[in-house]
Amino acid sequence: MNPDVTASIVLRPAQSGDISGIVSLVNGYAAEAIMLYRSPESVSMTLHDFVVAVDSAGTVMACGALKEYSPSLAEVASVAVARDAHGLGLGTAIVAEVERLARKRGIDELFALTLTPRFFESAGYVIADRALYPEKIRRDCLKCPRRIRCNEYCVARSVQEEMAVAA
Ligand SMILES: CC(C)(COP(=O)(O)OP(=O)(O)OC[C@H]1O[C@@H](n2cnc3c(N)ncnc32)[C@H](O)[C@@H]1OP(=O)(O)O)[C@@H](O)C(=O)NCCC(=O)NCCS
Repeated sequence: MNPDVTASIVLRPAQSGDISGIVSLVNGYAAEAIMLYRSPESVSMTLHDFVVAVDSAGTVMACGALKEYSPSLAEVASVAVARDAHGLGLGTAIVAEVERLARKRGIDELFALTLTPRFFESAGYVIADRALYPEKIRRDCLKCPRRIRCNEYCVARSVQEEMAVAA
């Protein structure tokens, strides 16, 4: 992909027309056990939590979602970038957009479970103990087929500091 193409990419909240693009992006990686599968119905029901990056043709090139656990805690989830657009900063831009959404909703703390901790570290996250997030373990981990041999890293960051700086 030509880096110039990123100039025409727009970051915005997801719309109903993006559902199939989000599902095919996420499930392409789910097929490789890199991400969890998402059904069109589950994306549709949580569409207000998704942000997308779309190209000039309206194709979803990247997505991410804010998954709320409490009024102060949420997960950065479903972060995926189209394979031909890796390394152009889209993943970082999506995470920043999810963080913006979190701040807008007054959420203080974000975490993620990921196979690529370096990516999140470059966005300011630090390795954390997943035991700090029992809500996640109860909601997703207990029913995950990989729970016994999970190789995902837990990463976290506070967005409260940025709220204070921005205030
Ligand atoms: C991980 C992913 C979202 C990164 O998206 P991207 O747009 O290529 O990432 P960026 O261009 O914003 O890269 C930002 C930084 O992360 C690093 N990075 C990106 N992908 C990486 C990977 N797979 N392993 C290690 N570091 C990675 C980059 O080198 C870059 O580092 P720098 O800031 O020091 O230059 C993308 O590769 C992807 O969709 N992977 C499949 C799904 C997935 O693993 N999602 C992760 C969340 S569960």
